[in-house]
Amino acid sequence: MKLQKVISFGLAGALTVSAGFAFAQFQKPEDAIKYRQSVFTVLANSFGKIGAVVKGEAPYNKDEVTKNAAVVATLSTLPWQAFGQGTEGGKAQADIWSDNAKFKAASEKMQLAVANLNTAAQSGDLESIKKAFGAAGATCKGCHDDFKKK
Ligand code: HEC
Repeated sequence: MKLQKVISFGLAGALTVSAGFAFAQFQKPEDAIKYRQSVFTVLANSFGKIGAVVKGEAPYNKDEVTKNAAVVATLSTLPWQAFGQGTEGGKAQADIWSDNAKFKAASEKMQLAVANLNTAAQSGDLESIKKAFGAAGATCKGCHDDFKKK
């Protein structure tokens, strides 16, 4: 019981510290907006390069696809810290803050889908890359439909 208390206090402390960091990282809301838009821009560039291969517009090269899938997977973890309280703006819909649980769920769905794409890319099997790319693309669109201004 006592140990459990110590652990839960420790956890609460760690959470407070990381939340403080996430906030302190951005001086102004515009900095957070610029950060998340930049991450999405770079992410979409690599994602689009895989898309061109999937659509047959570019030749399939395993190393290239693997590299781009790794970039997407890594960057997929980054935008969310820049949607903190008080950073409304850009093309972000207000629902991100009023329905944050749904937004968070959508972001987790996308991270899982691009992790699967990363695995498929490493397998070198173009058919499974196509499938995983389609599934990942659907998670982008789903969140944009709900939470991004057109
Ligand atoms: C959980 C929600 C969510 C998911 C998933 C998501 N996005 Fe977005 N995306 C947003 C929001 C919100 C914005 C608007 C950010 C802003 O303007 O502050 C955005 C903006 C963008 C932009 C425009 C950046 C700019 O400079 O205006 C691109 C490009 C983009 N996303 C690509 C993608 C791609 C590609 C995926 C999937 C691999 C994806 N997004 C997945 C929520 C999401």
